[in-house]
Amino acid sequence: MWNYTEKVMDHFLHPRNVGDIKDADAVGEVGNITCGDALKLFLKLDAGRTHIEDVKFQTFGCASAIASASALTELIRGQPLSVAENITNDDIAAYLGSLPEEKMHCSVMGMEALQAALANLRGEGNGTATSGHGQDGEAYDPSGLDRVVCYCFSVTERHIREVVEANGLRSVEQVTNYCKAGGGCGGCRKEIQAILDSYAPKPSPETGPEVENKTPTAMTNLQKMMKVQALIEGELRPGLQADGGDLELVDIDGDTVLVRLKGACAGCPGAHTTLKRWVEARLREEVLPTLTVAEA
Ligand code: FES
Repeated sequence: MWNYTEKVMDHFLHPRNVGDIKDADAVGEVGNITCGDALKLFLKLDAGRTHIEDVKFQTFGCASAIASASALTELIRGQPLSVAENITNDDIAAYLGSLPEEKMHCSVMGMEALQAALANLRGEGNGTATSGHGQDGEAYDPSGLDRVVCYCFSVTERHIREVVEANGLRSVEQVTNYCKAGGGCGGCRKEIQAILDSYAPKPSPETGPEVENKTPTAMTNLQKMMKVQALIEGELRPGLQADGGDLELVDIDGDTVLVRLKGACAGCPGAHTTLKRWVEARLREEVLPTLTVAEA
């Protein structure tokens, strides 16, 4: 039994915005029945064609797939297209309070359907997300990123690299959780590992093998706290304050840095992305590569 948050259960049992839009401005579709999950997203724009006036979805999937699709529609309904373009699978999971890591592929499916719909709106593609799932009859391309690595779930190398880079994945199991690749016969796991290995630090010709962790592992909690505090006060808060936002450090629990968003950041749909892509990335670079940032 999966350990779902109350919000996941609420969106699963009472999904918002289910259905279709007959005169939709764009449609985005991802997955297929043979993969087990499928999602179709319909977008209707306002008269100025700058905001998403209405959004509906149809899905075939598990509880977390339904909840993820429902959450996605709530995140983008009434929002400008510029906000929708920046929604990530992390935003969907955060909206739901969290998803079991084994179910993160459901949030990825939501993000892909949105990206396919936005591409459809721009007149690119046909509204089907082909980057994530190879289509039946797709030409085999052994040298390109669009070649299929996982045949059980028709997942391309491009899609594996996208989820690895966007979510900082490090193990084959994590890749399976985020895009299903490797979760069937297992025949592709070696190749997934090779893709992960391509992100490993390369040895420097001058200095020999690179030291994986630039920060001394013997850093005490107090040192960690002081370094995190210094970076937050000296760089991160001023950066956010320049745009009307702010954050405060609440606590550090092991390698988890708990922060509270303030100002324009509080309640902003893009704030989670900023936390992950900028705040967490800078803390990892400057303090400790194993740090994660979470909202208190
Ligand atoms: S080929 Fe990837 S799990 Fe079977």
